[in-house]
Amino acid sequence: MSDATLRVGVVGLGWAGVTHADAYALLPGVEVHALAAQEPERLATVGDRLDVPHRHTAWEDLVARDDLDVVSVAAPNWLHDRVAVAALEAGKHVLCEKPLALDAVRARSMVDAAVAADRVLWTVFNHRERGDVRTLRRFVDEGGLGRIYHVKASWTRRRHTTGDTWFTRKDRSGGGPLIDLGVHMLDLVLHLMDEPVVTRASGFTHAELVPASIAAAGGDPAGFEVEDLGGGTLRTQEGASVYLEASWALHAPVSGNEMTVSLHGTKGAATLLIKDYAPAGVLQISTDVAGRPAETFPVVPRGGGHADVVAKFVAAVRSGEWAAHRGVEGLRRSIVIDALYRSAEKDEEVDVAYEGGA
Ligand SMILES: NC(=O)c1ccc[n+]([C@@H]2O[C@H](COP(=O)([O-])OP(=O)(O)OC[C@H]3O[C@@H](n4cnc5c(N)ncnc54)[C@H](O)[C@@H]3O)[C@@H](O)[C@H]2O)c1
Repeated sequence: MSDATLRVGVVGLGWAGVTHADAYALLPGVEVHALAAQEPERLATVGDRLDVPHRHTAWEDLVARDDLDVVSVAAPNWLHDRVAVAALEAGKHVLCEKPLALDAVRARSMVDAAVAADRVLWTVFNHRERGDVRTLRRFVDEGGLGRIYHVKASWTRRRHTTGDTWFTRKDRSGGGPLIDLGVHMLDLVLHLMDEPVVTRASGFTHAELVPASIAAAGGDPAGFEVEDLGGGTLRTQEGASVYLEASWALHAPVSGNEMTVSLHGTKGAATLLIKDYAPAGVLQISTDVAGRPAETFPVVPRGGGHADVVAKFVAAVRSGEWAAHRGVEGLRRSIVIDALYRSAEKDEEVDVAYEGGA
């Protein structure tokens, strides 16, 4: 496996799938061998540009090929578990877009399939590969913040129309901005805190601005089945508290699209603010110097994202050390997001169980 050409099939050619295909095409010894999408023109454009020999309009035909080592899943959320489980059972390694699945039950079936097939299952959490996030992670690892006991993370879109797509159908997406954007912020939090165990969740959801704007435009707001603002608080086994929030539409003093995470520790705090997908965010470290409040703004590297995820995934496949990569982190994020939705629905705090829980 290590020296042979790795043959990849990519399912889905929206923004995510094209990004996957482009990232594989950059890597030596990796060939994008097949594509699957329902848009013939995208298959032709991307297929011709990357010289991909096989193109399919149904994912089942791509997964059935016996000449692929890897399948990248960049299809709508409701297809993730179906495509991934079929691909794993057929002996392929799988890179899957976030969220790992519609819900934790489906995510667990994917992890189980990876274990049974002894193949790699890897969730795409591209933002943790950003240069600013890596700098922050290193500062945390060096003990710069001391013990982190409180975290705030949010992804705020002030006004964002999804149209009537799979994103707004609960059975196709699993939810609104909480599962779509919030899962990225949850990943950053858990990654930066070095995988604390989440034990309790208290969630909320609202659907106010998007349904109102659909109705104002003469449409039927019932077609919008998910929240436009969601989040909640989490408690960890280690005693830390986390506040998480994600919106597709919210009256808020943000430019258009803002991601922010603040880590509060016993020695200092760090706040990372990323406006409108800027390749480098503003990282602010707040500490005390000689008993006085002090602010530091480290210069952070620009960029980092999908190409790094794809390169790491390919390296893991080539390494043969597959047992360490069974999609467990993606499953944990699904368990926490499920718990937040469950809590919001019940209007009470719920327990979160990683083992056997969903
Ligand atoms: N990591 C990120 O930053 C990021 C960004 C965007 C989207 N995503 C994720 O990527 C996934 C796709 O999102 P998107 O915005 O690209 O969606 P999209 O709707 O733009 O594209 C979906 C693609 O899947 C294809 N598809 C659907 N059903 C199919 C079938 N039966 N057989 C073959 N192909 C099929 C469609 O034809 C289309 O090409 C989602 O899970 C989303 O959450 C991740």
